[in-house]
Amino acid sequence: MKNDWLHRIASYLKWRLQVKSWRTVHSPWLFKLLQHMRSDALESEPIEALRAKLRNDSTPVPTVDFGAGSTGTINTVSGITRHSLKRKKHARAMAAIAMHIKAQSALELGTSLGLTTAYLAEHASQVWTMEGNPHIAELASNHWNQLDLQNIQMAIGPFDASLNKLVEGIGALDLVFIDGNHRGDALRKYVSQIEPYLRKDGVIVCDDIHWSKDMELAWNALCLDPKWTLKVDFYEWGLLTKNPGLKPEFRCIRF
Ligand SMILES: C[S@@+](CC[C@H](N)C(=O)[O-])C[C@H]1O[C@@H](n2cnc3c(N)ncnc32)[C@H](O)[C@@H]1O
Repeated sequence: MKNDWLHRIASYLKWRLQVKSWRTVHSPWLFKLLQHMRSDALESEPIEALRAKLRNDSTPVPTVDFGAGSTGTINTVSGITRHSLKRKKHARAMAAIAMHIKAQSALELGTSLGLTTAYLAEHASQVWTMEGNPHIAELASNHWNQLDLQNIQMAIGPFDASLNKLVEGIGALDLVFIDGNHRGDALRKYVSQIEPYLRKDGVIVCDDIHWSKDMELAWNALCLDPKWTLKVDFYEWGLLTKNPGLKPEFRCIRF
């Protein structure tokens, strides 16, 4: 635990030394994307009103160990909202990516309470999302009903059990957001399972790339793979695309 914290501090300082402002970007594709990501025009009032309500909801939620059933530990909706969900700025950034690449299909690994899913659903034609905890999945489903979103399909169960079949069924993916099971070997495996189905100008977002030494090593290895042209490290998450129209480059950017 202490080692993870030391790692995150060191890795943040290293990122700070490499980071550039979004204004220094030359690629028109990336510059335009960053403008969308920074704009609050994509903020959704109904989703943010729901987030504010959930922050104060003390309903208990059983946690699940994906290998061995319920651990018996109880979390609360409020705890999950405060500590597990992508913050507003980053959820909005996912919506901006979906809009920028005109995503027909988006896939999220790690639904949680479904708020980032909702942002994706407002800007992609169809969204698939995967969640291993059935108690959380039920809450997410209720939230999409409240928000009147009809274009979300959820696969409930461990990623490892259904990812292959799901991506095969979807066929062509524009945007994938990997936000669960933050282990380096899992990240590499999910990216290699998804990559054959990613459209040539599609995007994969990997969350928590500096969370642990192990995750950072996996992210670094992905960045060294020449199949990815543009690689962007936003510290909390990283973006990969094979888009052949873009100059191969790696960047650390603050937005
Ligand atoms: C960080 S949260 C996702 C947050 C969500 N993407 C958002 O931005 O609001 C990760 C979720 O992934 C689920 N999860 C983690 N590992 C999993 C696995 N191996 N299989 C299925 N679900 C998993 C957890 O139950 C949790 O709800």
